[in-house]
Amino acid sequence: MIRLVRGFKDILPSDTALWQHVEVLVRELLEDFGFSELRIPILEQTELFARSIGTGTDIVEKEMYTFIDRSGDSLTLRPEATASVVRAYIEHGIYAKTPECKLYTTGPMFRRERPQKGRYRQFYQINAEVFGLHDPRADAELILLLMTIVGRLELSGAGLHINSLGCPECRPQFREALKPFLRGQTEELCSNCLRRRDKNPMRIFDCKVPTCKKAMLDAPSILDYLCETCRAHFETVKSSLDRFQIPYQINHRLVRGLDYYTRTTFEVLAEALGAQDAVAGGGRYDGLVKALGGPDQPGVGFAIGVDRLIELLAAQAQSFERRPHLFIAALGLRAQDTAFQWVQEFRMQKVRAEMDFENRSLKSQMRRADKLGVSYTLIVGDRELDDGAVVLRNMTTKEQENVPVQDLVRLVVNRIRTE
Ligand code: HAM
Repeated sequence: MIRLVRGFKDILPSDTALWQHVEVLVRELLEDFGFSELRIPILEQTELFARSIGTGTDIVEKEMYTFIDRSGDSLTLRPEATASVVRAYIEHGIYAKTPECKLYTTGPMFRRERPQKGRYRQFYQINAEVFGLHDPRADAELILLLMTIVGRLELSGAGLHINSLGCPECRPQFREALKPFLRGQTEELCSNCLRRRDKNPMRIFDCKVPTCKKAMLDAPSILDYLCETCRAHFETVKSSLDRFQIPYQINHRLVRGLDYYTRTTFEVLAEALGAQDAVAGGGRYDGLVKALGGPDQPGVGFAIGVDRLIELLAAQAQSFERRPHLFIAALGLRAQDTAFQWVQEFRMQKVRAEMDFENRSLKSQMRRADKLGVSYTLIVGDRELDDGAVVLRNMTTKEQENVPVQDLVRLVVNRIRTE
């Protein structure tokens, strides 16, 4: 038997109702906050990701699905969406028409990481990106949107962590300050971090190896090295969050796994997820549009990891299953034929109706109605058709009433809608 590729998964019908609930709610909120949808391809030129995410990151060094296509081009399945959104913003001249714009995009991403709970090789993200705004209130507004999503989904146990990574003015000084500290940690750092120590020392904050994590506990804090402009920016982000009473924790080790960030970075973490505890992450990337060949426009955004969000919500035992409203138990060929007609009419009226085609006994049809969890069952035999009235059974109260065959669909639809 041919099985799934390792790290990939099917999302089964028993789970898709919850996925759709999340997707609909988030989409609505994004639109309320002024975002428009952009749809981007899954495949891009490899160079796009190398240049934006950074050649020294885990993603670009070892996690991309890259291949040479028949024309000799190096192509990559997107490991994230920000680079593609920026490419589209430049390529279609969106910046010229609407330099300040808010775009969202959803879909699968691909990273060849070691699969484990909450970490897949194909996973889903909802991305929100804002272009053209330097103002720190844009960062705060995005975080407010993210925390509103968390709140509306009634997700408990999710905490917001924030940091500032400075800018090309002040960050080099921090990097220099980090180097002597790291030279004293040779014993503790893993071989990967030792290799990165000189070229990209800030990446070491993102290493998940326990000895590296421990070694970095005493590392200097970037927040002590911010220039005046970056400090003021971060202060406004924090005071704006305070104003909307959004609780947060400042975490000076939050560097994120991608190199394009400047100033604000943030993550939403949920302990219940275990080792892979980030539900969402994002930040400001003021140099990225220019680095990819566009104008000097700032950007800030976030991505929600939908798989992890769903895992958290599923664990909170809310039921999102969409059960049918109505089952029609039809006995006899004429009743079956009429029921077939009614089922389609109910569906046209947005009432989810089901029936059996097998002409089974009433007992076995009632068992099926129970199993489906419908609120009502219509019981109809050839005799009832002759009498002009069928039985409508409320499956919760077990009460039964007669409903005239004439005008039946309208009457039952009204009954279900007023439930
Ligand atoms: P990221 O932190 O790499 O950021 O990913 C965002 C979220 O995607 C994570 O918090 C996590 O929930 C989910 N995620 C990442 N990798 C996996 C995986 N292997 N399996 C399951 N879920 C995963 C970005 O991708 C940035 N582009 C976010 C951003 C947008 N920054 C600015 N704009």
